[in-house]
Amino acid sequence: MAQRNARKRATSRKSSSRSKRSQSPKRASARKPDAIRMLKDDHQRVQALFERFERTRGETQKEKVAEAICNELKVHAQLEEELFYPAARKAISDQDLLNEAEIEHQSAKALIAQIEGSSPANEKYDALVTVLGEYIRHHVKEEEGEMFKKVRQSELDLAGLAERMQARKRSLLGGPASRAVGRLATMLGAPATA
Ligand SMILES: [Fe+2]
Ligand SMILES: [Fe+2]
Repeated sequence: MAQRNARKRATSRKSSSRSKRSQSPKRASARKPDAIRMLKDDHQRVQALFERFERTRGETQKEKVAEAICNELKVHAQLEEELFYPAARKAISDQDLLNEAEIEHQSAKALIAQIEGSSPANEKYDALVTVLGEYIRHHVKEEEGEMFKKVRQSELDLAGLAERMQARKRSLLGGPASRAVGRLATMLGAPATA
């Protein structure tokens, strides 16, 4: 009996601390739009797609996953190039980080174009997607490990920037490339956007 009461007290302590946590200002601010979080969500989603590609068998399925990877990356790169990078350029002094990121985008786009111009029937198709995955992993590591950290410490209004990025993303997602992302997301049972 005493044991049961002790357990009951522990449970009620747990649930009250949980409800306090959910009302904390930290939780409330976590829902605020944030340009860096938005980009990190994109990174995670495309990483999951690369992992899915590795597990995928069958030419039709492979082509669909690769198409989704390419479309996700094209929309993401456009958002960074049009909105995030120019804002970051003004906010941080390390311009080399931005220059390198922009050049890496050019190389990634060349690989994307090669994948889009190819098909799983090409014996090098898997290698192209794998190399793109490795390249993006390296690029993301530099963005998240260096650029985003510096931008986070700057005065840049990340909430305002996120709103502009979300609006641009919605308009880009109205295009034919992104309808394909939406179709694949439906097929995979995942949302097309973060
Ligand atoms: Fe990037
Ligand atoms: Fe990125």
